[in-house]
Amino acid sequence: MKEMKSQTLQAQEGRNAGFGTALSRVDGAAKVTGQAKYAAEFTRPDLLFGVVYTARIAKGKIKRIDTSRALAMDGVVDVLTHENSPRVTHFDLKLKDMSAPTVGHPFRALDSDDILYPGQPIALVVAETLEIARAAARLVDVDYEWQDFETDLKRATPFVPKVPGVGERKPKSRGKAEAAFASSPVQITGDYHLMPEHHNPMELFASTVFCEDDGRLTIYDKTQGVKNSHCYICNAMGFKRAKVRVLSPFVGGAFGSALRPQYQLWLAALAAKKLERSVRVVMTRQEMFGHGYRPECYNRIQLGADDQGHLKAIINSAVTGTSSYENYTESIVSWGGMLYQCDNAKLDYQIARVDTATPCNMRAPGGATGTNMFEIAMDELAYASNVDPLELRLRNYAERHQLKDRDYTSKALRDCYQRGARKFGWEKRSPEPRSMREGHELIGWGMATGVWDAMMAPTSVRATLHADGSLEVGTATADIGPGTYTMMTQIASDATGIPVERITAKLGDSDLPFAPVEGGSATAASAGTAVQKACHALMKQVLEQANQLENSPLSGARMEDVDLVGGRIQLSENPAQGMSFSEVFTAAGLDSLEAKKFGRPRMTRKARNTHSAVFVEVRVDEEVGMARVTRVVNAVAAGRIINPKTARSQIIGGVVFGIGMALEEESLADHRIGRWMNHNLAEYHVPVNADVPDIDVIFVEEEDHEASPIGVKGVGEIGVCGTAAAIANALFHATGKRLRDLPITIDKLVTD
Ligand code: MOS
Repeated sequence: MKEMKSQTLQAQEGRNAGFGTALSRVDGAAKVTGQAKYAAEFTRPDLLFGVVYTARIAKGKIKRIDTSRALAMDGVVDVLTHENSPRVTHFDLKLKDMSAPTVGHPFRALDSDDILYPGQPIALVVAETLEIARAAARLVDVDYEWQDFETDLKRATPFVPKVPGVGERKPKSRGKAEAAFASSPVQITGDYHLMPEHHNPMELFASTVFCEDDGRLTIYDKTQGVKNSHCYICNAMGFKRAKVRVLSPFVGGAFGSALRPQYQLWLAALAAKKLERSVRVVMTRQEMFGHGYRPECYNRIQLGADDQGHLKAIINSAVTGTSSYENYTESIVSWGGMLYQCDNAKLDYQIARVDTATPCNMRAPGGATGTNMFEIAMDELAYASNVDPLELRLRNYAERHQLKDRDYTSKALRDCYQRGARKFGWEKRSPEPRSMREGHELIGWGMATGVWDAMMAPTSVRATLHADGSLEVGTATADIGPGTYTMMTQIASDATGIPVERITAKLGDSDLPFAPVEGGSATAASAGTAVQKACHALMKQVLEQANQLENSPLSGARMEDVDLVGGRIQLSENPAQGMSFSEVFTAAGLDSLEAKKFGRPRMTRKARNTHSAVFVEVRVDEEVGMARVTRVVNAVAAGRIINPKTARSQIIGGVVFGIGMALEEESLADHRIGRWMNHNLAEYHVPVNADVPDIDVIFVEEEDHEASPIGVKGVGEIGVCGTAAAIANALFHATGKRLRDLPITIDKLVTD
């Protein structure tokens, strides 16, 4: 079928917007007025409150757990432990949620006396009020058997991860990297390190389970995928799928931490199953450090080049942490391996077990770690070969994906470099470190490349047009903050010509058509494509209905003959000749029309990636060592931009993550007791307003309908890739000090 032409221009005549319009969030008013409700805000008079009791040791067994004092407190209903909890499925396979690692045994709370990691939940106190539950939890008494543990990645033993039936999970090497490195006139070798980072979304993890009178369960869960939580909890607890509905209409940030169902869902469902009462469990900020996080990474990078800075060899080997019970892996070394023209690359990746909860995806998992480390190495090579850092990237520019040896569907990175550099004023940079200053402040300018995947996953959307001309589009995806509601509304408006105020987007409900978890920057391409397909199919139905009417002004008209304008379907040649949707419905005797469509990625062998060029200014107070990021220009090529306003916010969010990674965020463990020590927002520093300068975002649009049918590549994660490196590189330019250990905190800047 011929692609339906964009209705954007016509749609804007009403107060509305299609592709490319900077529409404000359609859910913005609900959010700022408090009408948007989060998982812990749904309530009922008979609701019970569960408070978690976590293991006080890093690893071992529960020898004895005494809950009698807690149970004796007025208002306490039950204390669930491994000794009295309902049994759950025996099969690991049933607990493999959509984002679970392929290899390992998914964690089961309150299932045995084993303690696998510090902060593991070992009891749930359930009471009539939150306060009683919290007070009673202090009375739980446990005797432990300690076992040896290791939480320090540098003392753990790396191994190559294997997938049964597939073999070793190894990145692809090419050429003869060691020989090429040995014969390179310019060589750099660096050992890079990233501390563990925890996602710290504003909203705490929460699940509210309502037991309905008819035996059904309604679960409000903080999740990036209601279908994932629904399937997981039904499989785990043996609930009939048709009797459970999972809802997550609003999510207060997640960044990957809510891709996998977290243990509060398991505990709330377990308590509801046992007690047949409605229960809510909310984690504390401290408890949120007891699950997945961005793993620590050790990464050795060696680059060999000729005396003009042309890459001859890349040797890169990385190790990241996983848990004792699952093999969590990331792509760390592939980004440097794909990005630059280089015939010889030796790439190795290993994981090592530490006794923590299994790490999990955090904004650009692997990409944030890998690109930022590699791009610091590239800066080192620029200085070693005496080539401007931007010029070095251009000299090594690759038109093809070097790892896969394939073309890209599109790659406008060259334009990102040019436009970003111009906006930033890069040509005014003096190359020498410590050569730019103002008063007692050293000024540094650094840059880096960012790269991420452009992904898309099959998603189903139902579009329903009502007799009053209003439209509803629904899919079980999430809106964890990027503006999914808004994006769906805009694409529906674009495809139907219906003003945005007459369109309702529905998501975050497991009763809606299938959508995968919201992750991997894939949702705009995935759900967006399906919205467009469903709306196109729906408009075809409207025209068919209109065609069949007696004395129809549209008889014989085909889709390519008509325009859709403000809830009306009319001939392009003669706009006066047409009907409003309502007129069609009335004449045909219809209440509503519905179309459900699956959006799928296009088949292509080409590589699909987003790219960026990041330029950063830092100022370092020479006397106290304090570093501030004062300017950022991030030029991004991510296909077509649906909404410049919400897309810009995504890049800003990613850049803020990059500032955190470069300067602030680190989860500090005391390895003698195996526990995270800064598990609160006072001591785990996420960037705040004072740390974040004005961020200049440039979108270099790419016309690319191979990346996804709607030409969208996704912007959720590219903003963090490269940003931390550009900051580290700017710090080198400011101070002459090369720091390879992220985050670069003041102590590292001031000590020799
Ligand atoms: Mo993201 S780490 O794909 O939620």
